[in-house]
Amino acid sequence: MCGIVGYLGFRNATEILINGLKRLEYRGYDSAGIALILDNKLKIYKCKGKVADLENLIKYKNTISTIGIGHTRWATHGEPNDINAHPHQSMKGYFSIIHNGIIENYIELRTFLQEKDYKFIGETDTEILANFFEYVYLKNKTSNENYSPEDAIRACLQKVDGAYGLVILCKDTPNQLIAARKSSPLVIGSAKKEYFIASDASCLVEYTDRVIYLDDNDIAIINNRGLTITDLENNVHNPIFDKIEVKLEEIEKAGFDHYMLKEIFEQPTSIHNTFRGRLNLKDKSITLGGLQEIFPELVKAKRIIIIACGTSWHAGLVGEYLFEELARIPTEVEYASEFRYRNPIIFEDDIILAISQSGETADTLAAIKLAKKSGAKVIGICNVVGSSIARETIAGVYTHAGAEIGVASTKAFTSQITILTMMALSIGLSKKTISKEQFDDILIGISEVPNKIEEFFKTQTDNIKEISEKIYNKKNSIYLGRGYLYPVAMEGALKLKEISYIHAEGYPAAEMKHGPIALIDEEMPVVVIAPKENSYDKIVSNIQEVKARHGIIIAIVTKGEKNLKNVADYIIEIPETEAQLLPLISVIPLQLLAYYIATKLGKNVDQPRNLAKSVTVE
Ligand code: G6P
Repeated sequence: MCGIVGYLGFRNATEILINGLKRLEYRGYDSAGIALILDNKLKIYKCKGKVADLENLIKYKNTISTIGIGHTRWATHGEPNDINAHPHQSMKGYFSIIHNGIIENYIELRTFLQEKDYKFIGETDTEILANFFEYVYLKNKTSNENYSPEDAIRACLQKVDGAYGLVILCKDTPNQLIAARKSSPLVIGSAKKEYFIASDASCLVEYTDRVIYLDDNDIAIINNRGLTITDLENNVHNPIFDKIEVKLEEIEKAGFDHYMLKEIFEQPTSIHNTFRGRLNLKDKSITLGGLQEIFPELVKAKRIIIIACGTSWHAGLVGEYLFEELARIPTEVEYASEFRYRNPIIFEDDIILAISQSGETADTLAAIKLAKKSGAKVIGICNVVGSSIARETIAGVYTHAGAEIGVASTKAFTSQITILTMMALSIGLSKKTISKEQFDDILIGISEVPNKIEEFFKTQTDNIKEISEKIYNKKNSIYLGRGYLYPVAMEGALKLKEISYIHAEGYPAAEMKHGPIALIDEEMPVVVIAPKENSYDKIVSNIQEVKARHGIIIAIVTKGEKNLKNVADYIIEIPETEAQLLPLISVIPLQLLAYYIATKLGKNVDQPRNLAKSVTVE
């Protein structure tokens, strides 16, 4: 949430900031701004709207500088408008700051500053922080001329509660950037005589592949002498350099109209990348390197608790079915935000599994910290390499789905499920809760999924587009599935809600008669996932119940299935696969259906209203 960029070097900072903000726009897009040092003075340009609006604003302005900071906002405190947009400047003009996160004790700080005659023009917590820095800096500077802006920032941040990724400019140190992090991601990229700061490493790939991920309570000072990292007590830390794995092609649209569409169509490759090097067809084995050490404990686990949010939570639900069926481990799936606030019962021999595409979701991160305090072993499935969740967990597996930029998650979901399936298979084989034959069948099945999805795209994409043109103007939708496909039904409904703003509900098909059936009439599309490998007869009965109430039936069936042709209004055929692998294939038509409905309605699918890709506030 909120994208942050900073630059210090020899090139035109404005170009680098705008470029970075465009790449980070998926994190928030309600207002944008930059601050530069021009003639040793701080200059801010900012406005409500997208980065393109900011570009228009600065078109004919003097913006040539070699140092600057930029921000694209997802509003927390204060509505999106020009004043609440970042960067924020302190009252006397000494500090300009950008911020991702929430300052929780902002009321206390504001009251304190108001007593010192500070005035505020906007409603953000960030403006208060800028003024707090200024107040402490100027107050100490009068008695100690060596007192530096970074001294003030360290002193202030010791008194600040909440989450922050901050980049700060001070007019007294015009060749210096200061960055600080607590619970919101910040990464520093380094190249020859240049430094970049960003909330996400993927926007730095075109400039450098050498990065440092800041830790909580780190303060980075970047100036002509180079980079120094200290903690809040001013102890110096040695920077640890990592290499960015993301490639530039991954963050481009590659000819697609939207990132979301590109990412949907990338799934044959992203799923393949997830199992590549891990699933060995020759000797029919699975190796998950990141779990090797913890594997004996996974096999012994009395319970797995999966914590996640959004689409990752839906992947977790599929994981529950997989772990219980294949590995016979009782599994619970929790919304991270609920788990952390209800004093959960965690035993030492529980395994907590956090699932997150971004690896930065604040609720998931906080739930991990809570679980760790109880002595539980916390492992992770993450997509973003080097992310906070990846670093907070004791072991884990990267999904290697590649950068996912569309706000509505697609390829990360199928990669998460691929990992969960491989985990459940490995544990199941080791525990002998599945036979080697079943293990081999599902393993071969996984390897065939990419080709099956390719085939599906070739034969069904136009069909799905046509269906979307028939139902795009309906106000509601119901999605039904059973067993492994119940979480998929929920995921399909979530996709539609997120990008088309049509109300949709995902339900276990048999539960329909306990409520949602009352909603069904000739205006209600009902998407039923009904492949023959999964409680087929039962779901056919559910379809008949919808039919009897004149609902519009869109049935997702196994290729070649004939029985439902006369019952359903629309048929989407998916290739045959093992029952446990159906989520991987059956979610794809739902992603496409949501995409085509939303584009038909003229919605911005990559940047849906009110949403953000990486939710770094609680
Ligand atoms: C946001 C995104 C969703 C995502 C969820 C969890 O709501 O818009 O697409 O599923 O966060 O994110 P995570 O990065 O933890 O998987």
